[in-house]
Amino acid sequence: MSVRQLFPVRAEVDPDEVYVGADRPVPPDRPWVLLNMIASVDGATSVEGRSGELGGPADKAVFRSVRACADVILVGASTVRTEGYRPPTLSEQHQQRRISQGRAPVPRLAIVSGSLALDPEAPVFAAGRPIVVTHEASDARRREDLGAVAQVVVAGSHRVELPRALSALRAAEVRTVLCEGGPTLNAQLVGDDLLDELCFTLSPVLAGGPSERLLGNGPLSGVARLHLDRVLEADGLLFLRYLRDGGPSTDRIG
Ligand SMILES: NC(=O)c1ccc[n+]([C@@H]2O[C@H](COP(=O)([O-])OP(=O)(O)OC[C@H]3O[C@@H](n4cnc5c(N)ncnc54)[C@H](OP(=O)(O)O)[C@@H]3O)[C@@H](O)[C@H]2O)c1
Repeated sequence: MSVRQLFPVRAEVDPDEVYVGADRPVPPDRPWVLLNMIASVDGATSVEGRSGELGGPADKAVFRSVRACADVILVGASTVRTEGYRPPTLSEQHQQRRISQGRAPVPRLAIVSGSLALDPEAPVFAAGRPIVVTHEASDARRREDLGAVAQVVVAGSHRVELPRALSALRAAEVRTVLCEGGPTLNAQLVGDDLLDELCFTLSPVLAGGPSERLLGNGPLSGVARLHLDRVLEADGLLFLRYLRDGGPSTDRIG
């Protein structure tokens, strides 16, 4: 059996070519869903509760390219709270490209929360009028308070049902949703068979500790199969792009 050598890398590529230029056929009933996550070699997704220690400049560049693909960035409330989320921004170049395609200059944030323990005065609500996705049993008063700074979308009776939330986004012309975690949200996306693409960064660190894995530490009902579309490397970080096995076909670039 022969194996392919992927590293050292022989040609340089612009992350925009790989991520922004990728074809993402939109399913009829929901947007294309991609997940972007970073983990240490030993599988940790956070160090002392946050992911910052895992990344670096190269990771930030790829992170921005991946963000430039998204109409909506979906994120769990716990990640918003612990990572101190702010309104998404993009480079002028990315914004101009999106505008020329008839898209909003920056993606909109959609925060999934049942408790609605989100401060309406937090920086994340300062611009872009994020979406807060919640369920019918959530606190009516908090829904009202957040309604002043966000669009509150109800999807589910006692928990947010992601298929419903995503089909509501599709009905609002959203074509591409980027999920930025955390593991609790990721596990539901995969459990509900909603994931089309995984952009996974393997960081050259060992972190140890009790951190959750990409999909948390609970079991799935079976394995979800992916195929490897692309491997990039910069500063020792590996950027792995996977597509759902048997999903809609995409055009490869380069
Ligand atoms: N390595 C990486 O790339 C990366 C990326 C993102 C996050 N992280 C790390 O991951 C950790 C946070 O992840 P996490 O798994 O604890 O939390 P999470 O997935 O970010 O958020 C979980 C929260 O989202 C809300 N939620 C999720 N599904 C829901 C549903 N079906 N119905 C209602 N609400 C729902 C709930 O919010 P309420 O509590 O408000 O009800 C829940 O507590 C942090 O340490 C962060 O640093 C790492």
